[in-house]
Amino acid sequence: MKFKKQIKGLEAYQPGKTTEEVKRIFNLDKVTKLASNENPYGASPNVKAFLENAKVNYAIYPDGYASKLRTAVAKHLNVSEKQLLFGNGSDDNILIVSRAILQPGLNAVMASITFGQYKHNAIVEGAEVREVPLTNGEHDLDKMYEAIDENTAIVWICNPNNPTGTLTPSDKIKEFLVRVPSDVLVVLDEAYTEYITDEKYESSIGLLEKHPNLLIMRTFSKAYGLASFRVGYAIGSEEVISQLEPTREPFNNTVLSQEVALIGLEDQNFIDTCRVKNNAGRKQYEVFCSERNLHFYPSHTNFILMEVKADSDAVFQGLMKRGFIVRSGNALGVPGYLRITIGTEEENMELLQKLDEVLHEEGVI
Ligand SMILES: Cc1ncc(COP(=O)(O)O)c(C=O)c1O
Repeated sequence: MKFKKQIKGLEAYQPGKTTEEVKRIFNLDKVTKLASNENPYGASPNVKAFLENAKVNYAIYPDGYASKLRTAVAKHLNVSEKQLLFGNGSDDNILIVSRAILQPGLNAVMASITFGQYKHNAIVEGAEVREVPLTNGEHDLDKMYEAIDENTAIVWICNPNNPTGTLTPSDKIKEFLVRVPSDVLVVLDEAYTEYITDEKYESSIGLLEKHPNLLIMRTFSKAYGLASFRVGYAIGSEEVISQLEPTREPFNNTVLSQEVALIGLEDQNFIDTCRVKNNAGRKQYEVFCSERNLHFYPSHTNFILMEVKADSDAVFQGLMKRGFIVRSGNALGVPGYLRITIGTEEENMELLQKLDEVLHEEGVI
């Protein structure tokens, strides 16, 4: 068969084990998953109330333009409705952008290590991948600028970055945008933006006016607690969005997902509360690491990448058999580290107590 040459040997995304699998394998009653940066508090209570009584005609296609949600997001961000692209999660928007722009002969510049889907989609489209190492866990925008040539089509900046959680300061992004050629699309993936508490951080939305080659991606999967509904949105210039729209599937958000995203958006109190709780939870990990002399990256997200001074897989397994699923650094290209989603105060306390046990077992402390 005539598959694209470049997808030969390309691995499909490897999801981690589900809580049900782990319960079965280790014969556990309770398993907590802190591996995929979901919201441990779930979604707004208004979403739950809506779903209990939701009446949906399942036979009818959804609104392919997500009109009601579009109007609400446009108002929330103070942009025009035509500046928005809705995807089946940000994953879908990454695919849409790659599909619309990349092809053999072109290249995409991105950090190493960063969110894996930028590279994956560039490979599928046959484009060259130019990876620029992080410096102290942060995007090195000077080096990324140097990696740009006349064949560069997209620069991906994950801000805050997954898996390090680090934030590229607003002034550095501004300087970078001024330097980048105007025919290169700069994508700021802001999946974790709602969790940022840094007072110096400025919203990137204001940069769109000056930089029509900027595209910002956000999602309802993280702070909004709606990962299962798959809603992400990109904000760009009307011109860029109109060029991306034809590569989007016609009905890529379901009826229910559009409804719940709208309800979630309207409850900003819930987001504010989650941000505050997440900030406190992150401190539990920071204190743990500092007391045990384990390095961690300063996180601006709902996860933390921390050193374990042992084989990541062994520590990951040790936590799993004690009922906690996290992400091994080996799977992310950061051996010797774990990426842990910040849970509730109680979950964090329990996990850290188990981690102490595992680190003792491994002879680290
Ligand atoms: C940086 C980043 N971008 C995009 C995504 C994908 O999010 P979504 O659930 O909206 O597809 C994730 C999910 O982990 C992420 O960490």
